Amino acid sequence: MRPAETESLPGTVGADPTIDVRVDGTEHRLTVDPRRTLLDLLREQIGDYSAKKGCDHGQCGACTVLLDGRRVLSCLTLALTCDGTDVTTAAGLAEKGELHPLQQSFVDNDAFQCGYCTPGQICSAAGLLAEFENGAPSHVTASVADTPQWTDEEIAERMSGNLCRCGAYAGIVAAIREAGEKR
Ligand code: FES
Ligand code: FES
Repeated sequence: MRPAETESLPGTVGADPTIDVRVDGTEHRLTVDPRRTLLDLLREQIGDYSAKKGCDHGQCGACTVLLDGRRVLSCLTLALTCDGTDVTTAAGLAEKGELHPLQQSFVDNDAFQCGYCTPGQICSAAGLLAEFENGAPSHVTASVADTPQWTDEEIAERMSGNLCRCGAYAGIVAAIREAGEKR
């Protein structure tokens, strides 16, 4: 016998849920497929192409954005878990037409070639600066009891999840070091 339409069938799901998310200062109320990633939400549903899709498997860092100020891989983050959060892309770091210090430093230090990895590198670097300010240690910090030192080794280690196929690493480290020294 066919069940009444209001009954749920085992193994089926109801209507897609709605979430509220703020992206680069703009509020969005969106109905999302529970399987959709934050990266696909940004690019395909909101039309924000700042975060890039490289591997789509959490291996390249091209999709890095800031979620409530902390860096995340948006290709591994379910959109549904972003309800009530604040998402910042590299494009959203600029304020009132002024480049963010990291963006300016990337330009000044030739820290990109094709630029495909750059938005993810810049978001990751912004997250890195915040981690440093909080005294969070990394794998290369001598002791968890020490304050991390602002060295190229620390920067390289903390940026190791962001790959650059053009090999602009020397410029990327220099750009982050310079922006960090000015902060
Ligand atoms: S696209 Fe997300 S880590 Fe590569
Ligand atoms: S600048 Fe081309 S991939 Fe990094």
